[in-house]
Amino acid sequence: MSEIYRASTTAPVNIAVIKYWGKRDPKLNLPTNSSLSVTLSQNDLRTHTTASCSPSYPSEDTLLLNGSPQDVSGARTQACFRELRALRKELEDKDGSLPKLSSYPLKIVSENNFPTAAGLASSAAGFAALVRAIANLYELPASPTDLSRIARQGSGSACRSLFGGYVGWEQGTAQDGSDSVAFQVAPASHWPNMRAIILVVSAAKKGVSSTTGMQTTVATSSLFSARANETVPRRMKEMQEAVQNKDFESFAKTTMVDSNSFHATCLDTYPPIFYLNDVSRAAIKVVEAINAAAGKIIAAYTFDAGPNAVIYYLEENEKDVAGLFKVALGEKEGWAVQRGEAVQANSAAL
Ligand code: PMV
Repeated sequence: MSEIYRASTTAPVNIAVIKYWGKRDPKLNLPTNSSLSVTLSQNDLRTHTTASCSPSYPSEDTLLLNGSPQDVSGARTQACFRELRALRKELEDKDGSLPKLSSYPLKIVSENNFPTAAGLASSAAGFAALVRAIANLYELPASPTDLSRIARQGSGSACRSLFGGYVGWEQGTAQDGSDSVAFQVAPASHWPNMRAIILVVSAAKKGVSSTTGMQTTVATSSLFSARANETVPRRMKEMQEAVQNKDFESFAKTTMVDSNSFHATCLDTYPPIFYLNDVSRAAIKVVEAINAAAGKIIAAYTFDAGPNAVIYYLEENEKDVAGLFKVALGEKEGWAVQRGEAVQANSAAL
């Protein structure tokens, strides 16, 4: 019987506070602007992935997600497999005694501990875990930065899930994408009392996929170029400073205005893209009311390509933010606080 080689890992979800929206190269997933996110705790929303390979496996690579077979023939997944195999092949060529894992079919088994269809950033955790599991299987001497370059080709936002804490993604300028990588702005331990709740407004799959949405926005929105070339570069600096200084008011304000700006470019797309719905807008009103009652900004909302709200706040304001959301909206149909608890952002060291 031939040997089976195996390695497992987990990667957490990240939620952007400066959004990636727009590709300058759709094949390599090179963005039109840099972005910044907070990586959630491994204990909360994460993908667990086992990668294995064996000469005895049937000739095709396979991927099971939550027990269902997935199509691996897409260009994104193929790019990740190809890059990782090439790095393994380099090692095998250098050291002839290594088993030729690069030539064996791969079997990938992934499980999300959250509903994949809930419109949460499942592809980010998914591709980050897939890339790291295979890199571990192949015993590649690759850094998180190297792996972020590969994961980016699976799903842009996945590159940020290779690091814990507060994570940037530098858009880069190289045509081959070599400098379009994630970097850690600060470990979670730097600002450990950051918390997030995720309000699942709708568990339905996204109406317009992020890839299609981005391409239409880049092609048709008149607001897009100001966002990508002026607004986001300025806010990236402000956000990094806010994190360095643990300045929640600045972090929160920049988070909210960036989410608004991203959704404004979606509305300005032709035909328009509506990711927010009435319940999302009600969440914005609740955050505004919380901040007005506190006399300062203690909560920030942000929305990805869907109606679900992510609310950031500091642990000391748990009662005034998460508590109020539960009271104000707990009875409303369609609302749920993810896991019933605050989702804690932590180092989730990868
Ligand atoms: O990585 P993708 O293709 O799923 O795009 C993610 C886009 C947003 O979630 C809306 C923003 C972001 O930076 O995560």
